[in-house]
Amino acid sequence: MTRMAIIAHGGAGADPKKATNIQSAVDAGGSKLTHGASALEVAVMVCAALEDDPSFNAGTGSVTRVDGSVLVDASVQTGDGRMGFVASMPETPNPVKVAAALLDEEMNGLAGVGARDWADERGFPRSEVTPRQSKGKKTSDTVGAIALDMQGRIAVATSTGGCSDRPPGRVGDVPLPGCGFWAESSIGIAATGIGEAITREMLCFRVHCQISQMGASMPEAFEEVISKRFDKKTDVGLIGINQHGETYAHANTNMPWAAWSSD
Ligand code: GLY
Repeated sequence: MTRMAIIAHGGAGADPKKATNIQSAVDAGGSKLTHGASALEVAVMVCAALEDDPSFNAGTGSVTRVDGSVLVDASVQTGDGRMGFVASMPETPNPVKVAAALLDEEMNGLAGVGARDWADERGFPRSEVTPRQSKGKKTSDTVGAIALDMQGRIAVATSTGGCSDRPPGRVGDVPLPGCGFWAESSIGIAATGIGEAITREMLCFRVHCQISQMGASMPEAFEEVISKRFDKKTDVGLIGINQHGETYAHANTNMPWAAWSSD
């Protein structure tokens, strides 16, 4: 039996005290994995729990765009090559559940009003998302969760309201494959931070390749890529699980995170 594991984060630049909330969500996910739930079910469950917690910039608690709207992004990928993502989606408190519903569709991703219409047809609740009371504080945080189940299956789920002060049509790293997320060959990676910088580096695919093809450890890959390819003023962080069920997190700023493993 594979060593089961979960890791989740609450965003680069977010208050480290939020790790307590993340640990609760991760521990609940650990209990599910122990009782036979799949990595996919658990990654989505943990991510949805963080979307429901208004202290995180995802789902309820998302930041507003420059016009005052709340538009959310999310993604889900499994190690067997399935993916789903939604971008700039209105009136959706749990976009990660819509992204998960795309896994078995012919299309991978949906954006904007079209994504919301598709979600309506499938019964995903439509309701106004209550934004964060940011008191002028800018944020680029995100939430993300990765799970590895007893059968060695990996899944990654990420969600965000985006960076502060971006226009309504802006797309960050979270819904872009290889940028904010990547899962393949029992190795899963999720990123957080300034979406534009993460996207330019195709960050998650880049570190995944270093681990899966070049034999780097997660600490080597995460620390080298963040220190060499991002300046210190650009908040960025990574979490990962490898094929051995090891977890690792690294950021160039505060990043609350929590992990669970079966031993
Ligand atoms: N990493 C969140 C965003 O830039 O949208």
